[in-house]
Amino acid sequence: MTERIVLAYSGGLDTSVAIGWIGEATGAEVIAVAVDVGQGGESLETIRQRALGCGAVEAYVADASDEFANEYCMPTLKANALYQGHYPLVSAISRPVIVKHLVKAAREFGATTVAHGCTGKGNDQVRFEVGIQTLGPDLKCIAPVRDLALTRDKAIAFAEEKGLPIETTKKNPYSIDQNVWGRAVETGYLEDIWNAPTKDIYDYTAAPEFPPAPDEVTISFEAGVPVAIDGVKVTPLQAIKELNRRAGAQGVGRIDVVEDRLVGIKSREIYEAPGAMALITAHKHLEDITIEREQARFKATVGQRWSELVYDGQWFSPLKRSLDAFIEDTQRYVSGDIRMTLHGGQAIVNGRRSETSLYDFDLATYDTGDTFDQSMARGFIELWGMSAKVASGRDIRVAGK
Ligand code: ARG
Repeated sequence: MTERIVLAYSGGLDTSVAIGWIGEATGAEVIAVAVDVGQGGESLETIRQRALGCGAVEAYVADASDEFANEYCMPTLKANALYQGHYPLVSAISRPVIVKHLVKAAREFGATTVAHGCTGKGNDQVRFEVGIQTLGPDLKCIAPVRDLALTRDKAIAFAEEKGLPIETTKKNPYSIDQNVWGRAVETGYLEDIWNAPTKDIYDYTAAPEFPPAPDEVTISFEAGVPVAIDGVKVTPLQAIKELNRRAGAQGVGRIDVVEDRLVGIKSREIYEAPGAMALITAHKHLEDITIEREQARFKATVGQRWSELVYDGQWFSPLKRSLDAFIEDTQRYVSGDIRMTLHGGQAIVNGRRSETSLYDFDLATYDTGDTFDQSMARGFIELWGMSAKVASGRDIRVAGK
């Protein structure tokens, strides 16, 4: 029987050429797998037809946008995950859901190998292949760009020579990856890290310099998940989309960073994640009133480690799963409303309320009638400083010798 390979297919030039390229290099039949993670653009049907037109024997297309929002974006939100303090893991969280569908398709169509269009320099090859190794340990991986010398020039020549139903003239100088959680743009002019991004780079956000009137929004959460916007019930996917639209119109969520790739390269990336950044900001502020201090401090460390694991392609790892259990436990009381103003590139919280709040007005107030006994503070401070005081006594003693 002819060997079969499932290919992660985007519908773009490189993966369209990869179908025939892999076929010629390996003699295998190629099955194209296209997954909708809310990236917008062409319909799955258009992509399916193109895959078949480019020589795929079958096309597997899946609308995974709700699955992606529920099972990938929501855990990222609960973790307040920002890799290196900036990046809400847009591409990093979409790879594992694509991997799930690749493995499913491989089983359905009896494939032995999984192919993807990544280069050998980025994180995404790692995320795909580590994911495949974990969910389908018997499956092999191949990357035509990296392993079968499929360069951009050769791709264009191949597409023209074979008359593939794909545009080869439209030259986009950037490498772009996008889904409902955000958008990532790199390469070209941006590789000079002193160059400011030009206007044409952005798509999810309007220029924050010229904002429309301020937009006040109330986001309601239940156990860490957004459930309503301005009182209207929403699914996680709807919440992200609605905030992409409203925060995007105000230029919220533009990020320009040089980040540390897993492969050891520092790289410049422009992100736009209006919905994700508005949601993370709101969620963090709700945690500030509903999570106990020590749990909150520890959770920040856990969230950082979680972000690194996910960035590094360890979505399906045991440690990531254990951290998920911790994070999930912290979300029990993260319910309530956050009111925020979206304006001029900023999402600023200005009101919060929760039935499960730990904010105690009577303890906090400086007005008369507070219930906090200030006389307790003296003894507490004495003991709290004791250890450092004893050590400093030792320092003085030793220095005096
Ligand atoms: N640097 C980001 C990451 O590794 C985004 C990579 C996405 N690819 C792109 N073509 N911009 O998660």
